[in-house]
Amino acid sequence: MAALHLEKVTKIYRKGENEVRALDGVDLDIEAGEFLTLVGPSGSGKTTFLNILGCLDSPTEGTIVYDGTELHSLGEKGLSAYRRDRISFVFQSYNLIPVLTVRENVELSLVIEKKLKAPEIRERSREMIAAVGLEGKEKRYPRELSGGQEQRVAIARALVKNPLVVLADEPTANLDSHTAEDIVELMRRINAERGTTFVFSTHDRLVMEHARRIVTIRDGRVTGDESK
Ligand SMILES: Nc1ncnc2c1ncn2[C@@H]1O[C@H](COP(=O)(O)OP(=O)(O)O)[C@@H](O)[C@H]1O
Ligand SMILES: [Mg+2]
Repeated sequence: MAALHLEKVTKIYRKGENEVRALDGVDLDIEAGEFLTLVGPSGSGKTTFLNILGCLDSPTEGTIVYDGTELHSLGEKGLSAYRRDRISFVFQSYNLIPVLTVRENVELSLVIEKKLKAPEIRERSREMIAAVGLEGKEKRYPRELSGGQEQRVAIARALVKNPLVVLADEPTANLDSHTAEDIVELMRRINAERGTTFVFSTHDRLVMEHARRIVTIRDGRVTGDESK
């Protein structure tokens, strides 16, 4: 079975009398190491899809199996541990912690987790900060960085725990087109070099040109699935 397996995943939001089928019977398999771009018009269900894939929200119906584990079977505690250990997010607005330095932002999740000793944490963060091209910026604060640099920090932070998958909801939407391309090229390089699975949504044509697989959703349904 694929690393990420979704079967008949449906999400219904209720607004008073109305029902919105934000996702409507999505079947999708994602293999380890994929670089998957999610496209579709505004309101088509991309954010809902990524939130459900990232266990931030649960489906109304359907099954999600990650690495052979059916998420539904984990229970609330197991699910939050799974999410913490295996899933990373990159956000459109970076979401760095302003009072922490670049290095501290990248190290924070490992420090809280307390599974690794300080020198190992330092070594991993050093490696990730270098991998995103920010050597020398370890002691800077987010406000001292450009948007593109902030998103690089967010990517380093996402990678430092060696996740099963990095999920990114329109990660380049706040960046100019040149920087957006730099960021998608960075994600693609990390994907190729480290084998990290990426699933991200975009509206940007230039960003789509770097995709390996484009999944289109419309009205909560997968209407296209094209690999290059
Ligand atoms: N929390 C919510 N409550 C009610 N409706 C929602 C909620 N979140 C999303 N929706 C609806 O679900 C549909 C899909 O939204 P979304 O996943 O945000 O699409 P996209 O990210 O592609 O723009 C839209 O019709 C949206 O209005
Ligand atoms: Mg959205």
